[in-house]
Amino acid sequence: MKRDKTATVNGVTLSYSESGQPGATPVIFIHGFPFSKATWAAQQNALKADYHTIAYDVRGHGKSEAGQATFSIDLFADDLLALFDELKIERAVACGLSMGGYIALNAIQKQPHRFAGLILADTQCGADTPEGREKRLKTIAFIKKNGLEVYANESLKNLFAPASFQSRKEEVEFIHQTILQTPAAVVCRTLQALADRTETCSYLPKVEIPVLLLVGNEDKITPPLVAQHMANAIAGSELIIIDNAGHLPNLEAADEFNTHVLAFLKRLATLPG
Ligand code: MLT
Repeated sequence: MKRDKTATVNGVTLSYSESGQPGATPVIFIHGFPFSKATWAAQQNALKADYHTIAYDVRGHGKSEAGQATFSIDLFADDLLALFDELKIERAVACGLSMGGYIALNAIQKQPHRFAGLILADTQCGADTPEGREKRLKTIAFIKKNGLEVYANESLKNLFAPASFQSRKEEVEFIHQTILQTPAAVVCRTLQALADRTETCSYLPKVEIPVLLLVGNEDKITPPLVAQHMANAIAGSELIIIDNAGHLPNLEAADEFNTHVLAFLKRLATLPG
């Protein structure tokens, strides 16, 4: 059974859900922007028989408090590491999608010994280009003026593969509602954090743990080519391109996503150390 709990880290109370076997390898899920831990329900369900899974709401998202501090990917990574401490997790496998991947890569740079493996889904290691940054700042101004409705509708078009609007109606509506339920101020503060983030590409050759990269074949935000560049930079990493999925293969092709995650975790268990 999934249990919702809270932990206070760096002055804010984070909401997390835990499932599976305490004592088994912890697998911690980090959601994308602007979503919540609920996006990992299918993964937590698929892993619960053999793993200890934790999915948490990044500060401001889902049921986690936002706090007053300026948002940054650096701060989100500090929260993740503090959550490890709070939950007495020495070492875990981290699975981050998009912004969740930015957070995982930032955190591993700070404390590499806390990670036994990384699953990087639909993410990238680069910072925003000047144009990308400009676009985020314009989006912040737009949301401040007009609220989230138009933003949510526009985002959906980029998040899902075209076919998912027919075949995954429930998932599309779930993400639509998740975006609308995120406070507009949190969306704006996080957009600023994303615009200000630093690159992690130069760190990739230093990653020494097993890494699985997953990406939807129709991801328009972080396309397969971006994942291929990351895979090339991480020695021994494995890249899997998931068919019939855009930026959210954990929702659009959950069974396939889970099969690859489970196979990776199984392989990890056979490795020394
Ligand atoms: C996400 O899904 O987390 C976002 O697309 C990340 C981004 O906008 O860079």
